[in-house]
Amino acid sequence: MNLEITSFKDYKRIYDYSIAEPEKFWEGIADTYYWRKKWHTVLEWNFKDPSIKWFQGAKLNITENCLDRHLEKEGDRTAIIWEPNDPEEHYRKLTYKELHFKVCQFANALKNNGTKKGDCICIYMPMVPELAIAVLACARIGAVHSVVFGGFSAQSIADRINDAQCSLVITADGGFRGNKDIPLKNVIDDALVQCHSVQKVIVLTRNRTPVSMIKGRDVWWEDEIKKVETQGNPACLAEEMDAEDELFILYTSGSTGKPKGVVHTCGGYMVYVGYTFKTVFQYQPDEVFFCTADIGWITGHSYIVYGPLSQGATTLLFEGIPTWPDAGRFWDIVEKHQANILYTAPTAIRSLMSFGDEPLKGKNLSSLKKLGSVGEPINEEAWHWFDEKIGKKNCPVVDTWWQTETSGIMISPIARITPTKPGYATLPLPGIQPCLVDENGKEIEGNGVSGNLCIKFPWPGIIRTTYGDHERCRTAYFATYENMYFTGDGCLRDEDGYYRITGRVDDVINVSGHRIGTAEVENAINMHADVIESAVVGYPHDIKGQGIYAYVILGSSIHAHDLTRKNILQTVSRIIGAIAKPDKIQFVSGLPKTRSGKIMRRILRKIAEGETSNLGDTSTLLDPNVVEEIKSGSLFS
Ligand code: PRX
Repeated sequence: MNLEITSFKDYKRIYDYSIAEPEKFWEGIADTYYWRKKWHTVLEWNFKDPSIKWFQGAKLNITENCLDRHLEKEGDRTAIIWEPNDPEEHYRKLTYKELHFKVCQFANALKNNGTKKGDCICIYMPMVPELAIAVLACARIGAVHSVVFGGFSAQSIADRINDAQCSLVITADGGFRGNKDIPLKNVIDDALVQCHSVQKVIVLTRNRTPVSMIKGRDVWWEDEIKKVETQGNPACLAEEMDAEDELFILYTSGSTGKPKGVVHTCGGYMVYVGYTFKTVFQYQPDEVFFCTADIGWITGHSYIVYGPLSQGATTLLFEGIPTWPDAGRFWDIVEKHQANILYTAPTAIRSLMSFGDEPLKGKNLSSLKKLGSVGEPINEEAWHWFDEKIGKKNCPVVDTWWQTETSGIMISPIARITPTKPGYATLPLPGIQPCLVDENGKEIEGNGVSGNLCIKFPWPGIIRTTYGDHERCRTAYFATYENMYFTGDGCLRDEDGYYRITGRVDDVINVSGHRIGTAEVENAINMHADVIESAVVGYPHDIKGQGIYAYVILGSSIHAHDLTRKNILQTVSRIIGAIAKPDKIQFVSGLPKTRSGKIMRRILRKIAEGETSNLGDTSTLLDPNVVEEIKSGSLFS
């Protein structure tokens, strides 16, 4: 069966085949990769435990697919273009040969520092090529990487390091983001006070901010590379991995408790991210792919590093932010590096839109051929702006729906092949079987319906477990509905069978495309000494998609004033990171609770949205007066 999709008719034919013969379909995709040994069983699964095993018996190393296999014919092709935060600083380009060399070198440095197959390594770095090199070096020697986004606090890092018992940390002295210096090593030092598993810290020089190096623990990246050079053999044979060996852990927020470590494995992840990258973006050789995400999130793992590199693509890695030195930064980068595909987030689009047409003046965007959006629902206004002002109505816009747990894109147009519709992620990729279910878990058939989005059949990139707590994986994703993976998203399927994601149906807020659990923010706010209780909900925000709204009860002797507000914000920054800071804090004397003590968030959500008349049934509340008080916002809102 030819799996190449060149028309919408092909898509339909291949989709039908992928559902009728899923194992044969995935085997066909997997055959396009380099395996040291092929599988004996394509798939073995049950969603009850859950237990999902793809390509059992197969042996591989993902870096041989991302690097070695391109060397002979495409070794001089550019693998990474790096654009620094400051446009005055020189950009860098690494060919596949150079990247391969540097990954091997650093992999040897990791080994020299005691890292072995199966060890877990925490990476907390700025967006520089060495971040991609660190990730690939871990994969090269079979160490499991856990990348933590550079905006998380010391406490969040410590929680993640302790959960995975990381033995080594890779960081930098600091990083640049816009006009800010980020003191990464200092944050790591604070985190490590609580982490006893960490033996070594490798520190890259980036912004030359003063740092304290701890004897016996901390070493410089550059010194370790020199040692490898003097040892004389820069090659590093790739470790042979089982298809189901862990490749990485990535922490993400759920509706309860602390973030969970989503585990992905070597074979299935590789097959899925390479396939989706090539299919969705219809990547052609020599195209420059610019994904604006940070490698600290799944989008960066899958579509800056592994997806593009597995396909021999040129991937553009940007250190800075869209609005510095001005709101024309993305467009300058597109022009400077002749980017052909731009993959970004609705929040960035809305933010840039708010600057009007001025930043676009004089920018030549004619290299662009395809556009993509990810991370949150894209509103029609932003979709049209992206299509008209950036794509000049000449570039298909692919609105890609997926999650940390899915590894890669699940529902999305295929560029130039699937007819698009603003606001719609459109149709599932071949191999993906979405369905909508009602609250009773019954599948809703037909078109023109909405419900909770589930997936009925495994795909190679599906989450395998949550690190150290398999039961949590079961209850979060596989227990809500029998025999289905539950996404946590609400969804509409229109008359054409097109899917439109309407947003989370659980207590997770999507702020600027980043998932934040309301419980996590409440726990952080409650750490503040003056706070008795709090309740956090999301509300519509023009730029961020959703903002964080916190209702807070203070101790009786405390007077709510601006300083208290600032102190609370600081507490949240310290416990989680600045990304989780509430946009609004309303001090209240009570929260709407049922007689059994459950906070009625539905009511709080409506008030946060500005709805005051139609709050639904409030008769089951312990004290309905509380609602009136909150509505009036009288207490220092
Ligand atoms: O609610 C959906 C939203 O982002 C969630 C996944 O977040 P995360 O694991 O952080 O991954 C983000 C990058 C894939 C989903 O449950 N989401 C993601 N993409 C879209 C989306 N919502 C609507 N449309 C999308 N294209």
